[in-house]
Amino acid sequence: MIHSRIIATGSYLPGEPVTNDDLVARGIDTSDQWIVERTGIRSRHLAADGVSCSELAEAASRRAIEAADVDPATIDLIIVATSTPDFIFPSSAALLQARLGIRNAGAAFDVQAVCSGFAYALTVADKFIRSGSHKRALVVGAEVFSRILDWKDRATCVLFGDGAGAVIVEAAERPGVLASAIHADGSYNPILCVPGTVSGGTVIGDPFLRMDGQAVFKFAVRVLGDVAHEVLEDAGLSTDDVDWLIPHQANIRILQATAKRLGVSMDRVVTTVDQHGNTSAASIPLALDLAVRDGRIRGGSRVLLEGVGGGFTWGAVLLSM
Ligand code: ACO
Repeated sequence: MIHSRIIATGSYLPGEPVTNDDLVARGIDTSDQWIVERTGIRSRHLAADGVSCSELAEAASRRAIEAADVDPATIDLIIVATSTPDFIFPSSAALLQARLGIRNAGAAFDVQAVCSGFAYALTVADKFIRSGSHKRALVVGAEVFSRILDWKDRATCVLFGDGAGAVIVEAAERPGVLASAIHADGSYNPILCVPGTVSGGTVIGDPFLRMDGQAVFKFAVRVLGDVAHEVLEDAGLSTDDVDWLIPHQANIRILQATAKRLGVSMDRVVTTVDQHGNTSAASIPLALDLAVRDGRIRGGSRVLLEGVGGGFTWGAVLLSM
């Protein structure tokens, strides 16, 4: 039986941290105290003008490829989870394949599931590998969310950041992905969306992120709890068997409420929201890479990743590293 497992991770954050006080200095009507109390965010990274999703994805991917010590030409599947692609088309995954100098080597495509995009992309890669059709995948979450923020809307612009995280997943005899589940309910689309499009060379509608923060909060805590139980039950395990929980990093209060609902203490939750803000599809692989590189997550660790985002979409992946 073929399994899939993560053999290496990498990540990249653009530029220097931008603190809450830096945002105040840029003229946003907010305060460090308001942002920290409501969200736990202290700083985020914002890509410089002209820096694209595929550029961040390339930097994170090169670190994962280096850690895996594999020849990029052996990667036969590239999936980029993003809601802020370089272009309408081609996909950021195809652009990433070109940036990495991989030619004519299998499939490359984007997955668009907003903040649960990485859980979706990893689930897709696992199914491709277990089917036997592909052997080595590069799975990336990369975002330049700063491009779709209304910097005049203080209720949203302080929450997000830019960055990328990547993993190399390959066929293995020992199970790495123990269970996964992905879900969607599109009827919730109005509570978190970017309701614009491009037509005839013009932006039609609103090109900025809009959110009903309190509705998102309640929805996120409920489904993050449900989907965690779903994958644990599928694997025949309980939360006591999980070494590390890595929820999507939206807001420290969502992380705390989810951990409490699952009966997991916060010292088993990898937390980056304070330093990264919400980097959407990049938040889970960024946190995973951080905890791998600082030694908290090592070979044999059981890790539960879970995301929730616009759509609404949600999902979880249970890993043995
Ligand atoms: N600085 C200062 N004051 C602010 C700011 C700000 N950045 N933003 C809003 N306020 C003010 C409002 O104007 C309002 O003032 P008023 O009472 O005078 O009218 C007051 O703060 C309260 O505003 P609310 O929107 O009710 O604030 P709330 O307590 O709901 O907190 C927040 C907002 C932090 C967004 C919260 O709803 C939340 O955490 N929601 C979760 C949403 C989330 O994390 N989304 C991330 C994307 S979704 C995802 O990744 C799954």
